[in-house]
Amino acid sequence: MQIEILAAESLGVRSMATFIRTRDLTMMIDPGAALGPKRYGLPPDEIEWQRLRELKDKIRQKLKECDLVVITHYHYDHYDPEWAKDFKGKRVILKDPFNAINRNQAQRARELLKRLESNQIFWETAEEKEIISGTTQIILSPSLTHGPERRFGGVVSVFVKEDGFGFLHSSDLNGPVEEKAVSFIKEMRPQVLFLDGPATYLGPRYGLDFLKRAQKMLQELLLELPLKTLIIDHHTLRDLAWKNWAKPILEVAVQQGTRVLTAAEYMNEEPLLLEALRKERYKASRKN
Ligand SMILES: [Fe+2]
Repeated sequence: MQIEILAAESLGVRSMATFIRTRDLTMMIDPGAALGPKRYGLPPDEIEWQRLRELKDKIRQKLKECDLVVITHYHYDHYDPEWAKDFKGKRVILKDPFNAINRNQAQRARELLKRLESNQIFWETAEEKEIISGTTQIILSPSLTHGPERRFGGVVSVFVKEDGFGFLHSSDLNGPVEEKAVSFIKEMRPQVLFLDGPATYLGPRYGLDFLKRAQKMLQELLLELPLKTLIIDHHTLRDLAWKNWAKPILEVAVQQGTRVLTAAEYMNEEPLLLEALRKERYKASRKN
């Protein structure tokens, strides 16, 4: 199985866009990317906009190769409604637009559906679907919660298996902190887990108890699963000091022989935390 993470916070933008090729099919999970509109009270600078353009072009190009597209929820770092017509000829699998969804995402979902329908593009609901194509098996989770707060609605995790090797894309579990999400991951038993991790940069606004709970959940996963690689990115990689939170997890990973990587490192690139470094760039540009 070929797994290519096209965009993520460690690659300079908000995203979890992932391209997968098996012997039987090509697919993309979450074809989109965005920037944090305000970080440290500052808007994105030209360096971030440039990187966003670059990576969105890459995602859109790669999308042309895909037979199947999954959108795990309706946040703009995970899809772009302007690209609806690019889904023509592909199998389109969407997080249930009508159930376990908040008002804002339901509105966005309706807009996407309108665009798909006007282009005669059929779509299917993702939740609890299983797809078998040759030796490839795709399992979509039931609706899982977007982190500690129910008000963000549900997301769908995606598991892909071929030749006994399993990859799991968690989408925005923002933790995991939910028992149901952890059970799904345990049940799938992936060798590679691409996890968004908690929004440590929000600190108490995320919830200090929940940060501890996410640590405990991840330690549990490392102890119970045959994980070769744990990729932590997205929410967690908005924080320059993310390893302070991750330290107890990294210790268990060493014991278990699991590599813990950012998406950039997984792709053999240097991490480039543009959003987390926004304040530093503003400071430097004021000095010049
Ligand atoms: Fe996200």
